[in-house]
Amino acid sequence: MSDPATGPKKLFIKTYGCQMNVYDSERMAEAMGAEGYVTTDVADDADMVLLNTCHIREKASEKLYSDLGRLRALKAVRPGLKVGVAGCVAQAEGDEILRRSPVVDLVVGPQSYHRLPQMVAAGGRQVDTEFPLEDKFSALPARKVTRGPSAFLTVQEGCDKFCAFCVVPYTRGAEVSRPAARLLDEARGLVAQGVREITLLGQNVNAYHGAGPDGAWGLARLLRELARVEGLERLRYTTSHPNDMEDDLIAAHGDLPELMPYLHLPVQSGSDRILKAMNRKHTAEAYLRLVERVRAARPDILLSSDFIVGFPGETDGDFQDTLGLIRAVGYGAAFSFKYSARPGTPAAEKPPVPAEVADERLQQVQALITSQQRDCQEAMVGREVTVLYEKPGRMPGQMVGKSDHLHAVHVQDEAGRIGQLVRVRVTASSSNSLAAVPLHTDK
Ligand code: 5AD
Ligand code: SF4
Repeated sequence: MSDPATGPKKLFIKTYGCQMNVYDSERMAEAMGAEGYVTTDVADDADMVLLNTCHIREKASEKLYSDLGRLRALKAVRPGLKVGVAGCVAQAEGDEILRRSPVVDLVVGPQSYHRLPQMVAAGGRQVDTEFPLEDKFSALPARKVTRGPSAFLTVQEGCDKFCAFCVVPYTRGAEVSRPAARLLDEARGLVAQGVREITLLGQNVNAYHGAGPDGAWGLARLLRELARVEGLERLRYTTSHPNDMEDDLIAAHGDLPELMPYLHLPVQSGSDRILKAMNRKHTAEAYLRLVERVRAARPDILLSSDFIVGFPGETDGDFQDTLGLIRAVGYGAAFSFKYSARPGTPAAEKPPVPAEVADERLQQVQALITSQQRDCQEAMVGREVTVLYEKPGRMPGQMVGKSDHLHAVHVQDEAGRIGQLVRVRVTASSSNSLAAVPLHTDK
């Protein structure tokens, strides 16, 4: 499909939101790649622009429409430009997007993006936000590794939990797990292209229950089989729900060396009253007991979480309970968000906490998390850790990668190569990363 005068057609993708969207963007690029499109980092050069949107928090649609406004100017000078909106805002708003924004040619939901090439070939303005019965993953071309030695692999999508604040069950649909054999094949394919670390993705990844050759596999079984793939050195998974942390998964943290000592286990709040109003179906105490069991299996595990402040009805006392839980756990990292009413979710019907109160709580919770994160990083100084080099750093002779505990590490290593796993000694900690020097440079 490439024009000999201008070369192949160029695709620019802007990705908002979570790692699942990053994965989806890669797969969309591959799907369009099979049609002759190559990706570009410059929107101005593109023949097609895809905005892969996120609906989880505030201002998602405002952001989308302001980006679309800019694209209108681009389309005025590039009349052949195709503009597509993908992701969760596309799912939630559907053909409303075509009505509001004449610049848009295609609207495609997260479950139907494998149909993008057909939609482009058909021409005209189109919307596809179905949850088709066919498996989009089987319809997509094979993976092509473009992002270095660490890759994402979607194993599960959708969510049946219906937390009262969350749009995911509506935009991503019901929980679906991919068959284990397909995942093992995809993982082997990635490793054959140089991948050494795979992060399994799912909105509710630890609820994974994919078909295996001998009945349904849980996430622990999947991890155990992936750990046997030759050349696959590191495994991670995200995001987990506390109620799906089963015994065998906790045990896997103790006995699988490939499973990295990092667990993102969102709790959202430390108040039982708020947890109940959020429909989280567990108490703060149950979460703390779970943390103890995980730490018993893997004492050095680094825990991270998500918190929402200013959920409707949250009192000062409830908020203090959240701070108390954070102090009790001691997180290595965490994300905190101001509650944002999502249309169509049960919590959106309730009267909001005043914005100033929510802002003040957000600042407090972020200050506490930042200090815990700093303590955790500083505790690494002087220690030996393993880093997977992902790219060169900004300084000459510097490599950047992640430690087992998912700390970003800058290593001064003239001989370093992307994809190497290197033992290093941590020499310093700065706000968002560690500095280190190599101990050996083999492997
Ligand atoms: N408002 C604020 N934060 C939210 N999250 C999900 N929905 C909302 C919302 N309506 C946060 C949760 C979740 C993370 C991915 O985003 O903390 O774990
Ligand atoms: Fe949303 Fe996660 Fe709750 Fe599912 S478990 S509804 S994805 S916050």
